[in-house]
Amino acid sequence: MKILVIHGPNLNQLGQRDTQIYGTKTLNEIDTLLREQAKSLGAGILTFQSNSEGEMVNFIQKEAPRAQGIIINPGALTHYGLSLRDALADAQTPVIEVHLSNIYAREEFRHKSVIAPIAKGQISGLGWRGYILALEALIHE
Ligand code: DQA
Repeated sequence: MKILVIHGPNLNQLGQRDTQIYGTKTLNEIDTLLREQAKSLGAGILTFQSNSEGEMVNFIQKEAPRAQGIIINPGALTHYGLSLRDALADAQTPVIEVHLSNIYAREEFRHKSVIAPIAKGQISGLGWRGYILALEALIHE
């Protein structure tokens, strides 16, 4: 079983970016924790980060046909990334949307997700552990 883990714009800065909101773990540390957890559950992950929506769409088109699920933190694209949403909908594999922060407890513009309606579920506000919970949900689906 292969799960895609996709990180959107600015998430490459984790560890130094607004640590009060996003925590102190780097993206690499989060990916390592996910890889270890996936392995212990008999699955594998393929990770990808981009600051560009088009590159994310290209990655999904290329890799989704061979994957059994997608975990995605779309960053700010959550709120307006319609080509990302279309690519995820076309992927025809379950998608779980993850946010480190609770987007509903922050600025108004973050309350709307254009991804959520095509996702199987959303985890928001549980920090890096949200990714682990999403992985477990996909594997035990
Ligand atoms: C985020 C929330 C978004 O609103 C923001 O633009 C991000 C990170 C989160 O993980 O909490 O880049 O997706």
